[in-house]
Amino acid sequence: MRLRELKEKDVSGMYLWMHYEETKDIFEKDFSKYTKEDILNFIKKQEVNDVNYACVDDNDNYLGTISLKNIDKKNLNAELAISFIQDAQGTGAAHFAMNEILKFAFTKLKLKKIYLNVLSTNERAIKFYEKNGFIQEGCFKNHIKKGNKYIDLLWYAIISD
Ligand SMILES: CC(C)(COP(=O)(O)OP(=O)(O)OC[C@H]1O[C@@H](n2cnc3c(N)ncnc32)[C@H](O)[C@@H]1OP(=O)(O)O)[C@@H](O)C(=O)NCCC(=O)NCCS
Repeated sequence: MRLRELKEKDVSGMYLWMHYEETKDIFEKDFSKYTKEDILNFIKKQEVNDVNYACVDDNDNYLGTISLKNIDKKNLNAELAISFIQDAQGTGAAHFAMNEILKFAFTKLKLKKIYLNVLSTNERAIKFYEKNGFIQEGCFKNHIKKGNKYIDLLWYAIISD
């Protein structure tokens, strides 16, 4: 397993998780609108302050995406985002990817803090983040509207030391 730059051939894997029924409840953004062409454009046109990696198996098959967004070189922080295809969930692949990206963030980029937000309803992701050393720093009450419900948005972070 390894992390590498996203490639054009990862479009199908990314399309897969973006279009799971469950994905609608997990993210604020509506990924179900994304076409394969949108994903290809995303892969080709990376933002300057973002890094997006694919986690791939030993045969270079796409397992998931892990990203550092809004890399802030003044305050030395960045926002983490992660999503894996269902076949790769529960296999340890996401844990591997998390370790690799944190190593990259703290040793290579010399960042001090990685933060993220997660819907309070996403119990699997919350458990995963806590297992990987993230600590809850805040809660925006009733921040995200899903259907007729307003859901809390939790903020988590991990500090380099
Ligand atoms: C979040 C994600 C990257 C975590 O990777 P993963 O491989 O599923 O994580 P793990 O299996 O290592 O850890 C999840 C934990 O939650 C547990 N879990 C699974 N389903 C659960 C549920 N419905 N409720 C509570 N806990 C759950 C698992 O048993 C596991 O705990 P354990 O290690 O004690 O057994 C992955 O599930 C994913 O890509 N999800 C979809 C996208 C997403 O939610 N991204 C985060 C948005 S903020």
